[in-house]
Amino acid sequence: MKDIKQKIQEAVLFIEKEMDCRPEIGLILGSGLGILADLIENAKVIPYESIPHFPMSTVEGHAGELVCGQIKGKSIVMMKGRFHLYEGYEAQDVTLPVRILKALGINRLIVTNAAGGVNTNYEVGDLMLISDHINNMGRNPLIGPNDTELGERFPDMSEAYSKRLIQLAHRVAEKQKFSFREGVYMGNLGPAYETPAEVRMARIMGADAVGMSTIPEVIVARHAGIEVLGISCITNKAAGLLEQALSHDEVMEAAEQVKPKFLKLVLEIIEEM
Ligand code: HPA
Repeated sequence: MKDIKQKIQEAVLFIEKEMDCRPEIGLILGSGLGILADLIENAKVIPYESIPHFPMSTVEGHAGELVCGQIKGKSIVMMKGRFHLYEGYEAQDVTLPVRILKALGINRLIVTNAAGGVNTNYEVGDLMLISDHINNMGRNPLIGPNDTELGERFPDMSEAYSKRLIQLAHRVAEKQKFSFREGVYMGNLGPAYETPAEVRMARIMGADAVGMSTIPEVIVARHAGIEVLGISCITNKAAGLLEQALSHDEVMEAAEQVKPKFLKLVLEIIEEM
């Protein structure tokens, strides 16, 4: 089996041969939020399936493309579509793209996701800056031998989400007469949505939102010394807070509604970063 560094090297060689891609900022876009890729100037696109060792996205609403280019004068690389543990991938595979983005040159990462609101004050369509997370996935991408060239054995997680970037995002929102929520994201393994009892547990444990992604990527990003900004789009009230059943269609629909607001905010955040 190839070791992780060899996989990173082969993927980076391939990407750099296909396109001039020297990004400073990376973006990982969650369900339905891939639209941002359409705003990239000089966009160069590589389908995931052509990149050596890249996993493949299997979920509806998650296209599989790496897009490189500029936004507001900043060089960025964007993952349009991400990988989830519930698809059957190992945590190391789900996070290999983050290692690859780091090797391409990024030192800041914006991660977005769709999440269920656990905080009873949250409404569908709210955008939440992730202040911290609770890893309830029972997995960690750093399990196994540690390569100190990639990061340290026991990485500090006391500021997993950059306070500087959170403040910056709040300032941008204020200018746009918008207000972000700020709260704790709990990552669950999925793919089943939570039960009402699990949502009550999440609330008691201090979560404001629940989802099925992001945490593995953020752990690897921090291991790699990348500064992270996380944004959750509250696409539904979590189970038990609503009468009706949860559906993926509802999640996609809510992401669709919030898109214009989301785009405007993220564009200016990138500009200010
Ligand atoms: N739970 C878990 N993941 C989600 C949810 C939810 O309610 N909504 C969107 N992703």
